[in-house]
Amino acid sequence: MFLKEVQLMKERVVQTGEYPFDIPSIGTFEEMELESPITFFVGENGSGKSTLLEAIADQCGFNTAGGGRNHFYEVDSSDSALGAFLRLSWMPKATNGFFLRAESFYHFASYLDEVDDTGFAGYGGKSLHHQSHGESFMSLFSNRFQGNALYLLDEPEAALSPQRQLTFLRILKELSEERGCQFIIATHSPILLAYPGAAIHEFSEDGIAKVDYEDTEHYRITKYFMDHRESFLRRILED
Ligand SMILES: Nc1ncnc2c1ncn2[C@@H]1O[C@H](COP(=O)(O)OP(=O)(O)OP(=O)(O)O)[C@@H](O)[C@H]1O
Ligand SMILES: [Mg+2]
Repeated sequence: MFLKEVQLMKERVVQTGEYPFDIPSIGTFEEMELESPITFFVGENGSGKSTLLEAIADQCGFNTAGGGRNHFYEVDSSDSALGAFLRLSWMPKATNGFFLRAESFYHFASYLDEVDDTGFAGYGGKSLHHQSHGESFMSLFSNRFQGNALYLLDEPEAALSPQRQLTFLRILKELSEERGCQFIIATHSPILLAYPGAAIHEFSEDGIAKVDYEDTEHYRITKYFMDHRESFLRRILED
């Protein structure tokens, strides 16, 4: 564990009605304790998960376009409007880590093509552009991720089949339990969210609340859909 707490420095917030403070989860945010090596951010589209994750990455010194401390590249890099308002409490401070945004992974692959002189040693031995979306993600997860680091991942499931998501759970276990890593992951995946012992923070109109797996909207909708698929589809599609 590295990052113990994220606090909003309320005294610095002046323009409360403007982005990002107009997002309910961010406008009401005060602090978040991180007590588990694996923390998930879950919630509806637009509920503020990426905004908070990006701001944390910004304060960690990770490039907000995605990448580690040593990967600075300009393509698609975005300023975090929230970063300057956050105070992070460390124990100890993480010096290694990685921020992965699903949307900017393509640019990260291009950047690696340009700068890599190791034969893509940390990335499965070939350009990420020559691997499928899911393969390249898995190369990154299984090769580039090292011990004693903080990883911030935005929707890592975007590229992964259900089977590979299960493989990813094993990688999470190994890195967090045996190699001292901490993860904060924004996700919509009911498979990833099921990781035992993870802390789940749900973003909504009411703010951010810690919830049990079975109480997440994602779990409930997915379960209901699987259990009542035909009647559910009839209701949605035929009315
Ligand atoms: N630079 C920006 N300026 C103004 N509004 C923004 C900006 N970036 C994001 N927003 C808005 O902030 C809200 C939260 O966006 P955010 O990307 O944090 O959502 P999210 O929870 O990650 O959603 P998703 O699940 O779709 O990824 C959205 O309504 C979005 O339109
Ligand atoms: Mg997002």
